[in-house]
Amino acid sequence: MSAGAMRAVKVLVWAACIWPGANLFHKAFWGDLGVNPVETLEHTSGEAALVILLCSLAITPVRRLTGWNRLQSLRRLLGLWAFFYALGHLSFYILFDQACLYWSDCQLNAVVDDVMKRKFILSGMVAFFAMLPLALTSTKGWIRRLGKRWQTLHRLAYVAGAAGATHFIWKTKVPEPKPFIYGGIILVLLAVRVIYSWRKRTGEVRKWGN
Ligand code: HEM
Repeated sequence: MSAGAMRAVKVLVWAACIWPGANLFHKAFWGDLGVNPVETLEHTSGEAALVILLCSLAITPVRRLTGWNRLQSLRRLLGLWAFFYALGHLSFYILFDQACLYWSDCQLNAVVDDVMKRKFILSGMVAFFAMLPLALTSTKGWIRRLGKRWQTLHRLAYVAGAAGATHFIWKTKVPEPKPFIYGGIILVLLAVRVIYSWRKRTGEVRKWGN
């Protein structure tokens, strides 16, 4: 892939990542968040986080399949956008579901209780806390400092994807296909990763590009 084509892809990826947030912001500004504004905020940010996270996990298999090595730089960009939406999503939950608009109103006990009581909240927390170290160590300095351990740490992205998809499945009261489609995608991505690692170990694949 040429440098020019890669630049065009990056512009498209930025536009696609900005879109859900800009759309939410626009709707919020015009008071057009629907009958349940909190639900709209939580659903849009949660789904954006999950979809972008799955896209970031798909980069490596697509790169290996096509040989377009420049695509690899998109992984970090997508990962950071996914984290940005997850952070927004968590903030909406804390601010509105937990009524934590002012510090004096915040009750950590209530959050802990909710995590213990509702398994879909627990899986959301697992997804978020799996993404947190990835976002914190995404800088060049950390990549250099952690060396090989950085790649191992970044396997947490699969934990985040699986927990995020489980969170969506458990959250849905009336069965609908979308959460299962995301769950299926993460299973396929995981299977591809495992097969690649196994082939690498048996010497069938020599070049390992993370
Ligand atoms: C940090 C902990 C998290 C909490 C407390 C949390 C909480 C919530 C809540 C309250 C809802 C709305 C439930 C409803 O309206 O019935 C929701 C929906 C959702 N969350 Fe989370 N979440 C968390 C993390 C995440 C993360 C990290 C992801 C993605 C990787 C995610 C993806 C989703 C999705 C896809 C939905 C459903 C969207 C839809 O219905 O269209 N959540 N979450």
